[in-house]
Amino acid sequence: MTKPVNGFSKLNKTEKINWLAENYLNNNDTAVSVLKQYWNDNNDLQKLHDEFIENTVSNFYLPLGLAPNFLINGKYHVLPMAIEESSVVAAASKAAKFWNERGGFKATVIDTKKIGQVHFLFRGDFSRLDQLVTNIKPKLREAVKPITRNMEKRGGGILDIELIDKTEKLENYYQLFVKFDTRDSMGANFINSCLEKFAEVLQEEARKNPDFTEDEKNIQVIMSILSNYVPECTVRAEVSCPVDQLSEDENMSGEEFAEKFIQAVKIAEIEPYRAVTHNKGVMNGIDAVVLATGNDFRAVEAGVHAYASRNGQYTSLTHAKIEDGIFKFWMEIPLALGTVGGLTSLHPLVKLALDILQRPSASELMEITAVAGLAQNFAALRSLTTTGIQQGHMKMHLMNILNQNKATDKEKEELVEFFTHHTITHSSVMEQLKKIRS
Ligand code: MEV
Repeated sequence: MTKPVNGFSKLNKTEKINWLAENYLNNNDTAVSVLKQYWNDNNDLQKLHDEFIENTVSNFYLPLGLAPNFLINGKYHVLPMAIEESSVVAAASKAAKFWNERGGFKATVIDTKKIGQVHFLFRGDFSRLDQLVTNIKPKLREAVKPITRNMEKRGGGILDIELIDKTEKLENYYQLFVKFDTRDSMGANFINSCLEKFAEVLQEEARKNPDFTEDEKNIQVIMSILSNYVPECTVRAEVSCPVDQLSEDENMSGEEFAEKFIQAVKIAEIEPYRAVTHNKGVMNGIDAVVLATGNDFRAVEAGVHAYASRNGQYTSLTHAKIEDGIFKFWMEIPLALGTVGGLTSLHPLVKLALDILQRPSASELMEITAVAGLAQNFAALRSLTTTGIQQGHMKMHLMNILNQNKATDKEKEELVEFFTHHTITHSSVMEQLKKIRS
């Protein structure tokens, strides 16, 4: 059995890989060369990547694709999308093309407040705690001045500090519930630094308070941390057009399409099994842009899904209706994004992705990202309710099989043509490839 390792982080990269090969990969040279083939020859770039995280042994590549022709609030954008799943970029591009012929996407930021909490235990009289928090609010704000000064210069800072009584749910549990405006930064470090200072001041002021009993003086801070649930940092994305303009061919009228599409959305609104897959499609678009722009997709995912269950049942993020002959399709979602700080100035591809998007503000990036999600959901529902999803997927699957079997460009051309009229399965592709090769 493999023994635990001590001092692993102190080993250099080659030593780490050798340890891994010896202990977990049967000293397999191929495994080692797989790890090493992703090292970058540019030492500076490699060093940068090595230092993003700890115990780095290689780089894990994701494709970066472009979805052009996104008309958003009257301006064209090319969306950089980092994603491993085939069809997503194609679907986004198709939806963009469809809607730019029908007035494009509209997007509006509703609010940009972010939230952080100091979670603490207080054993004593609530009204006296309440009085203390009211009295020390100016001190709390003053104590974080060194942290907030620059943010305030940019128009952001602390918006509100509130005491919340949670003792009905958990004995002695209270929060300082703080709202922040972090401008163009995601603001996690800023928020957490402010919260930790608040916690310190709160404890100190309680300890010094002559009106408090000994128990009351002893506030126990459990933790201070931002919340990734940001229902007040939301953006709306929408599209609309006359119903009769929705039809693209004679097989289905605009009315038929709209009705079926709206039913599909309604199913996701009331049926959690479907809602999760429906929203997964939305997140295909959102995550790809969030990743490409160096934002925290885990935070976005957690916040968006919490928002989708805010009324007690997990439901669709998107909605659709027909009003006075106009088809309307929209979504409101929370998105805490940044365009300065974090990876945005460090990762060369992230910097480039933001250049491609013409250096957006955080609010503009919220709008663009929400549109990517709405477009993705539109494309998915459009396929699902008309041709079915497999038609497009199998085309990509065909290319994957051909690439795996090292098909030449000529073979690819011939087989793509053949499978326009035949059903794609792994065995049918292999059979046909064998036929043309013999
Ligand atoms: C696949 O990645 C996403 C879809 O399943 C989304 C959906 O079903 O709406 C196609």
